[in-house]
Amino acid sequence: MRRRALLAALLLLPALARAGEAEGEQLFLRKCQACHGADGGGDMPLGRATAAPDLRTSPLTEAEMEKVVFAGRGKMMAFGRRFSAEQIDDVVEYVLKKIRPGGPVPRRAVEPKVPPPEQAAQ
Ligand code: HEC
Repeated sequence: MRRRALLAALLLLPALARAGEAEGEQLFLRKCQACHGADGGGDMPLGRATAAPDLRTSPLTEAEMEKVVFAGRGKMMAFGRRFSAEQIDDVVEYVLKKIRPGGPVPRRAVEPKVPPPEQAAQ
């Protein structure tokens, strides 16, 4: 009997994980897309107006993303009171898996601004 309960629980786990993913996608499309775009690139009128960063090349860790979504940052509003902890988890999971599947992308160092030699000589 106990074994059966365990088996049932194990069979249910992937279904629960899929439910979380679907929830994350729905949340992203309903609440984040207006600025970040469905692909995370931020190529939307509101995204350009607020200078929303490209989530596909975000250098943030999962914990850092959760913090931004919870507390907001700059022109992005906080979702800590609109979303449950589980919803924040699901939407960040969606960003990590579907929008930035390769993991954190280190921001490239800014190129030093050295004038081309012919200008420097003048
Ligand atoms: C009103 C437009 C807007 C909405 C809606 C919005 N964002 Fe943002 N988001 C921004 C802006 C602007 C920034 C950059 C904030 C700053 O300047 O520090 C940002 C930053 C982020 C970052 C940090 C990225 C990085 O690389 O620094 C994450 C992650 C993020 N948003 C996820 C989300 C998620 C998930 C949602 C939906 C729950 C969402 N955003 C909704 C505008 C928005």
